[in-house]
Amino acid sequence: MSTYRVAHLSDPHILDLTGVPTSRLVLNKRITGWVNLKLKRGSHHKPWVVEAMMDDLAKRRVDHVVVTGDLTNLALDPEFERARSVLERMGYGPDQVSVVPGNHDVYTRGAQRGQRFARHFAKYITSDLDVGGEGHPSGPFPFVRLRGPLAIIGLSTAVARLPIVASGWAGDAQLEALARILARDEVRSRLPVILAHHPITNPRGRVASALRGWSETDAMRKVLGGVHESLSLHGHLHHRVYEVIDLAGGARVHRLGATSASLLHDDPDAMSGYNLYEFAEGGGLSRASARVWSASTRAFEDAAVPALRA
Ligand SMILES: [Fe+2]
Ligand SMILES: [Fe+2]
Repeated sequence: MSTYRVAHLSDPHILDLTGVPTSRLVLNKRITGWVNLKLKRGSHHKPWVVEAMMDDLAKRRVDHVVVTGDLTNLALDPEFERARSVLERMGYGPDQVSVVPGNHDVYTRGAQRGQRFARHFAKYITSDLDVGGEGHPSGPFPFVRLRGPLAIIGLSTAVARLPIVASGWAGDAQLEALARILARDEVRSRLPVILAHHPITNPRGRVASALRGWSETDAMRKVLGGVHESLSLHGHLHHRVYEVIDLAGGARVHRLGATSASLLHDDPDAMSGYNLYEFAEGGGLSRASARVWSASTRAFEDAAVPALRA
């Protein structure tokens, strides 16, 4: 029996100000504020560890790679170009890589208006099915890619917000399209793997949820309640996590979060790494593990995906 293997990485947060005129940095207060903050605090996001990850993935030869958002920091064209060339370093074809945007990929209204993410990553967001609906302000989402035993569905929760707000919004059009997609024969015969930057479990507390969460998690759980089993893959938390969610009616969702690909951190669950999922021929998730950067061996090593702490 052959196994289908998916690698899941997230939040590389690539910063590149090449060719961005100083006048733009001065005029755009959001960008200036962010750069100042970053320089003062000292960043723990390192581009070289993302490149090492791409080389590890190039050797691993999985069947598909998914990236759940925040590929850039400021949603600038040079950052998208650099992020694309970093992904190309893995040596996988566009049919083997699927991406969705995060809040940082629409950091300014201009980035959202110009659908910069969708333009730069067009080859990684193609859809095998015509899903209808009006899409999302960030681009033509959702998309569906039928791959082996899986139906990989990409949603966008990325919308330009006021400073310090990082919450997600998919919109009714996408949620209705998702329900239609899940009812399609080509999808029903596969395991749905849903990509969205924001997790379907909100942080504790109303303020944290409002600032960083996703207001439509109940609506998402309702839609997923109609499917016997599904995966919900996300980033945004910069933390590796696995939670099995049992919904009313017997539906089960495997929520799996990947940490930030560029983050060097003392907490092993936050340290740079990617998740690896194995699927049986019939489509069930048979194994979830991770490859995590080791500061001592300076290489990625096998690790577990930690179950949610109560
Ligand atoms: Fe992030
Ligand atoms: Fe995020």
